[in-house]
Amino acid sequence: MHFTILTLFPEMFESVFSSGVISRACEDGLLSINTHNIRDYSQDKHKIVDDRPYGGGSGMVMKPEPIAAALKDVGGVDENSKVILLSPGGKTFNNEIAKELSGHEKLIFICGRYEGIDERIKEKYVDLELSIGDYVLSGGEYAAMAIIDSVARYIPGVLGNEDSVVDESFSSGLLEYPQYTRPEEFEGSSVPEILLSGDHKKIDDWRRQKSIEKTFAKRPDLIDRNILELDDINTVDSLKRKLKKNSNLYIALVHYPVYNKQFNVVKTSFTNIDVLDIARAGRTYGVASFYLVHPVAEQQDLIRTVMEHWTKGKGYEYNTSRKESLEYTYISESLEDTIETIEKTEGVRPKIIVTDARYSDKMTGYLEMRETIENDPNPFLLLFGTGYGLIKEIIEGADYNLKPVVGSETFNHLSVRSAASIILDRLCGVKI
Ligand code: ADE
Repeated sequence: MHFTILTLFPEMFESVFSSGVISRACEDGLLSINTHNIRDYSQDKHKIVDDRPYGGGSGMVMKPEPIAAALKDVGGVDENSKVILLSPGGKTFNNEIAKELSGHEKLIFICGRYEGIDERIKEKYVDLELSIGDYVLSGGEYAAMAIIDSVARYIPGVLGNEDSVVDESFSSGLLEYPQYTRPEEFEGSSVPEILLSGDHKKIDDWRRQKSIEKTFAKRPDLIDRNILELDDINTVDSLKRKLKKNSNLYIALVHYPVYNKQFNVVKTSFTNIDVLDIARAGRTYGVASFYLVHPVAEQQDLIRTVMEHWTKGKGYEYNTSRKESLEYTYISESLEDTIETIEKTEGVRPKIIVTDARYSDKMTGYLEMRETIENDPNPFLLLFGTGYGLIKEIIEGADYNLKPVVGSETFNHLSVRSAASIILDRLCGVKI
């Protein structure tokens, strides 16, 4: 496999690839690495490679002609080569991409400098734009080094032990289990006994368990992304039970005071399906309690009858999980009552979070809200308005106003139960 690097600083690569695994692989003929100085391809008598951006602005842009000439010279237009531009705006590099790239015969890297390269090079020559993370480096050279090292590890024979790439963090989709070596005792800590037992089956099981525990704690998104075997799913479930924290997030579905279409303040009717679906979502995401806020006794009786159908009546015989989903669902006469009930339980008044389909001035993003809830032990009450939304006074008096849930269309008419599920997933779900 051939790696070709187009750069203004070829000397940067000399020491990096002159030792270790990569240098040995080059000596063994498993791969080759060649650098070419983009400046050598400049037709300018001063060997200029950059210029000011059209339209103004700070910094310099790499000119297209030297890069195009370099690409043509090194086979960048050949069918068997893949041209990769390193830039902070590219797709984030990961192990899957490394593995895929290792299947190519020739990779050509363009290392950008200054404010970037002329857009036309991207349009005409670049097959893939890669970034190594959400931060800006002073040039693509550092990114090229990291990517080449990681791709090379997938080339058969590059790593002495064929198994080591299979066992590593990320290769299995999980983080690697903890490793120990001699001495058996170090500063008062011993190596886990099982690793000294010589029982390979038990050691493998222990390692898998530790891998899952570590991934669950540090990178839960990886658990979600990788299909696990049944045993692994059981391990994850037992971790969820073990680590289950008492949630400080309460939710309420408010039927009064809300707006109707004409922006009059009204009481809306209970909707069977909203009550059941939000209760199910609440249980799934582990909220502390779900309050149904309605001031009208007849409406409360009606919804109580529906809830009893699922918790005691025929519905319970038919579907027992509905009872579980309604276990923390309560009817409340008013928003103030709801707040007082929570205050009595928690010893402190909950902070109020509102959701609204309309944008307003001071709104909180989901990531920020999630971190606030996770880092503050005090209670939060998240309100979902029915009808045309919560009245202005509630929105303005809230502690946090979440940004509207938006999709890819200008059409935006989610039902309250859909919005509730999406919001709960953003605030409490596995981070993907
Ligand atoms: N060039 C500058 N910053 C970069 C990054 N984060 N990834 C790839 N190339 C870059």
